[in-house]
Amino acid sequence: MGFVAFGDRCENGFVRDILRVLALAGVAAGMAGCKSVPPPTPLSELNAQQMRGHGVYQAKCAICHYDRQTGSLHGPSLLGMYKKPALPSGAAATDERVTATVLRGRNMMPAMGNTMDQQDLDDLLAYLHTL
Ligand code: HEC
Repeated sequence: MGFVAFGDRCENGFVRDILRVLALAGVAAGMAGCKSVPPPTPLSELNAQQMRGHGVYQAKCAICHYDRQTGSLHGPSLLGMYKKPALPSGAAATDERVTATVLRGRNMMPAMGNTMDQQDLDDLLAYLHTL
């Protein structure tokens, strides 16, 4: 099952990844292709902060985003989000950008700045980096 999902990601994402890489002139990343995106860290191997972040993800994000499988729910999957050349919008996958998206929202994604404190945010980002 996890295997199948991984295969899907490679096939569906391949052409798009090439275009994206060309656009960004990230030639080295392109040569490595989809195989360069390693799988997420197993839940059993997360440290305490990452586990807390997993809880924040489940409470705040899981209703709209998958974390460990490809495909869109209400928003794009967060799988491998920091390992890819860019976020779905094309913006660089940085903590600054992700924080701004969570705090201020984006199009159909609601702003959640009022529902999370700095600790929640830090823990969440730590978890997202393991995907
Ligand atoms: C109510 C549904 C909803 C919730 C809850 C939600 N999102 Fe989103 N999210 C979306 C949608 C829809 C998009 C696509 C927005 C767009 O680009 O038009 C999105 C986009 C994103 C993106 C991509 C931004 C980009 O620049 O491409 C990230 C990263 C993200 N969400 C992270 C999160 C995180 C982390 C949480 C939990 C704190 C969260 N989202 C909660 C609906 C949601």
